[in-house]
Amino acid sequence: MEPVPGPSTVRVVFARPRFTRDLTWDALATLLPGWEVETCAPADLAASVDGADVICPLAARIDRRVIEAGTFGLVQQYGVGLDRVDVAAATDHGVWVARIPGELSGNADSVAEIALLQLLALARNLDETRAVLREGRWADRTGGRSLAGATVLLVGLGAIGTAVARRLAAFGARLLAVRAHPALGGPEEVAEVAGPERLHDLLRRADAVVCSAMFGPETADMFDAAAFAAMKPGALFVNVARGGLVDEAALLAALESGQVGGAGLDVFAHEPPDPDAPLPRHPRVVATPHVGGVTDVMFRRTAELFAGNLQRWAAGETPRWAVNDGHARRAGRPRPR
Ligand code: GLV
Repeated sequence: MEPVPGPSTVRVVFARPRFTRDLTWDALATLLPGWEVETCAPADLAASVDGADVICPLAARIDRRVIEAGTFGLVQQYGVGLDRVDVAAATDHGVWVARIPGELSGNADSVAEIALLQLLALARNLDETRAVLREGRWADRTGGRSLAGATVLLVGLGAIGTAVARRLAAFGARLLAVRAHPALGGPEEVAEVAGPERLHDLLRRADAVVCSAMFGPETADMFDAAAFAAMKPGALFVNVARGGLVDEAALLAALESGQVGGAGLDVFAHEPPDPDAPLPRHPRVVATPHVGGVTDVMFRRTAELFAGNLQRWAAGETPRWAVNDGHARRAGRPRPR
C-alpha cells in the first residue's frame, strides 16, 4: 500500500518571498502548525513546485506548464484575482483553484478606501496643493471639486463596487453603475444600474468614474479611446481593478488633451510598470503600486481564511470558494491528510 504522508509533510509554496516589505508569511506558519511554508520568486515557480501540495500564486502565472510540473492539488489565492491562473488546465489535472472573497477578507473595503483616496486626491488637486504650501507659493492656491452632488459612475458592482458605493453615498454623490449582469441590481445607494452595452451612455453623464470590473477577454481594454471620448470633458477616472481593463496609450492621450481631467491608478497593464512609463509619473495621475487591498485588516483576515481553507482541503473536504471542480485527483499523487 502506498504510504500516506502525515501532516508534517504537507507543503505550501508562496510564489513571492513576502507579501510586502513589512508583511511576511510568518503568521501563516503559526496558523498552519506542522505545515512546511516555503516561498520562491514568481519567475522560479515552475522549478519550485516539486513536492508542493498547495501553491499560492499571488501575481505569478500558473499556466499548464506549472500545473504539469507539479503534483499539487490546490491553487489557493491569497486574495481575489485569478486572472493569471489557467483554471481550465487546473481542472483538466484535477487541481482545485480557490480565491478568498473580498467581502469576507476586508479586501473589498481596503480597495474601496484607496479608490476614495485617489478620487479625493484628484478632486482636491492634492499633489499640487501640497506643493504650493511646501514651496511657499500661497498665492498659487487653487480650488477643487466636491463630491457632494457629483455624479459618479461605478463600473463593476461586485464586492469592491458595492463598498465604493456605500462610501461615495456618504459624500453625497449621485451614483450610477454598469455591471456585467444588470439584472442583479445593486445596493440602494445606486440610482441606476445598466449593462455593459450602455457603458458609453452612462460615461457621458458622469463627473467621475471608478472601475472595479472583473478583467477577462470580454473586458480587456474596455476603457479605450472611444470610452474616454464618451466621458464628460475633464471627468476623473479611477481604476482599482486590473490594468488590462484600460488601453493605457488611450488614457495617456486623453489626459494630455484634457478630455480626462485626472486619473487614479492602483493597477497597470504590466506590473511592475517600467520605471520610465509615463502614466505613473504624469502630473495629473495619482498612482499607487497595486496596494489597494494591502492593509493590516486584509492581511490578518485573509491569513485566517487561507489557513482554514488549506486545513479543510488537507482533511479531504471540498475547499471553500473554489472556482472549479478539482476533485478528480491525478493517479499516484500522494494526498495530504
Ligand atoms: C488583488 O488585486 C486581488 O485580486 O486580490
